Amino acid sequence: MKNKRVATLTLDDGRSVELPILAGTLGPDVLDLHNLSKLGLFTYDPAFFSTASCSSKITFIDGDAGLLYYRGYPIEQLAEKSDFLEVCYLLLHGELPTAEQSADFNYRVKHHTMVHDQLARFFNGFRRDAHPMAVMVGVVGALSAFYHDSLDINNSEHREISALRLIAKLPTIAAMTYKYSIGEPFIYPKNKFSYVENFMCMMFATPAEEYVPNPKLVRALERIFILHADHEQNASTSTVRLAGSSGANPFACVASGIAALWGPAHGGANEAVLKMLEEIGDVSRVEEFMKGVKDKKYRLMGFGHRVYKNMDPRASVMRDTCYEVLKELRLEDDPMFKMAIALEQIALKDPYFIERKLYPNVDFYSGIVLRALGIPTSMFTVIFAVGRTIGWISQWNEMMSDSERKIGRPRQLYLGETKRNYMAVNKRR
Ligand code: ACO
Repeated sequence: MKNKRVATLTLDDGRSVELPILAGTLGPDVLDLHNLSKLGLFTYDPAFFSTASCSSKITFIDGDAGLLYYRGYPIEQLAEKSDFLEVCYLLLHGELPTAEQSADFNYRVKHHTMVHDQLARFFNGFRRDAHPMAVMVGVVGALSAFYHDSLDINNSEHREISALRLIAKLPTIAAMTYKYSIGEPFIYPKNKFSYVENFMCMMFATPAEEYVPNPKLVRALERIFILHADHEQNASTSTVRLAGSSGANPFACVASGIAALWGPAHGGANEAVLKMLEEIGDVSRVEEFMKGVKDKKYRLMGFGHRVYKNMDPRASVMRDTCYEVLKELRLEDDPMFKMAIALEQIALKDPYFIERKLYPNVDFYSGIVLRALGIPTSMFTVIFAVGRTIGWISQWNEMMSDSERKIGRPRQLYLGETKRNYMAVNKRR
């Protein structure tokens, strides 16, 4: 980072301070506010609208131009040409793997897919109708109990093994979560399958029936994982970083990321989109529904994004994938898809959405694809978590590799009572 330029901040009392202007390799310049402490000042920026919480070399987003790069590679190219484990390697190590590195990485991930048999017992503690994300928070958090003593988070090899374990075991735990909810036995991972085939097998096979993967559907899920793999400093990733900044166990940190992802304003949006489409019920009711959105009775789920003020590049890939999957399954007349297209067409022309720069985000179409793949709505955010795990652990690893790492500690603007003295109960009114 170059920091030759400075901005000067002058207060109304005449005091001033110079703030270095930092330039990244891409994206807007950033003011370095370290010197504010010389004046005893903090900044106030709730919800981080204008604040970079860290520096990173992993993912770049230009929300106005609708660009998303992983380690410099445009998401559209990766979604078309790459596979998920290659993207995992790229995010974690910074470069695409050679053939040899790829084979080694695949082998190592494949040989970490089983979970300790004792982990399976955790499921019995949950009601079978528990939300799968609640189960994921608990069971992924429980992984921390299995590797804690043998893990030195300051050792890069140990961190890599933790990353491999997480990438490998998340699909297994996600599939177990689903099987538990429907009362079917857990299916063990099979090394003859690719990463995504294996996940689909663990989800859909039964001991009585072999699973034969459909390559087009496998490719669709692979794309969903690739599109969700990382998204720089979003709410769940920032949660993982903040939890990790204290030196906490990485499996526990990822569980905190899963908790943050669950909310409808973040990873819960794809589930919320499907619920919304179910509520609308028919394409004839789309106009009426949109009136309610504009009257601010409810939000159009799957629309809008904190960073993208243009088309989310992942949404375009997802829309194409949606066409492909529905064609493969001969579901081109799917009423949900028709409603989604109708909503999108109205929104893209409507001044309410244009003025607020609200465009479809990745989740607008991912729910329809997941539903067509046979994945129940309550599992949608779990699928997102499986894909995002590599982003969380890559960002955690980047932070942990920084020798100047410090515990994250936001400050506040205090608006509460000033000092007052304790009053005995009989004197209170
Ligand atoms: N439908 C209708 N109006 C919306 C929507 C929406 N989906 N999103 C934002 N707006 C409106 C707000 O009402 C507000 O209008 P106003 O200026 O008249 O008050 C304006 O647009 C700005 O909205 P904010 O909530 O301030 O924008 P913010 O950047 O904080 O919110 C968010 C981003 C949370 C994603 C929001 O767009 C939203 O709730 N979208 C629906 C949920 C969703 O799809 N989330 C998925 C995000 S992508 C992901 O996590 C993978």
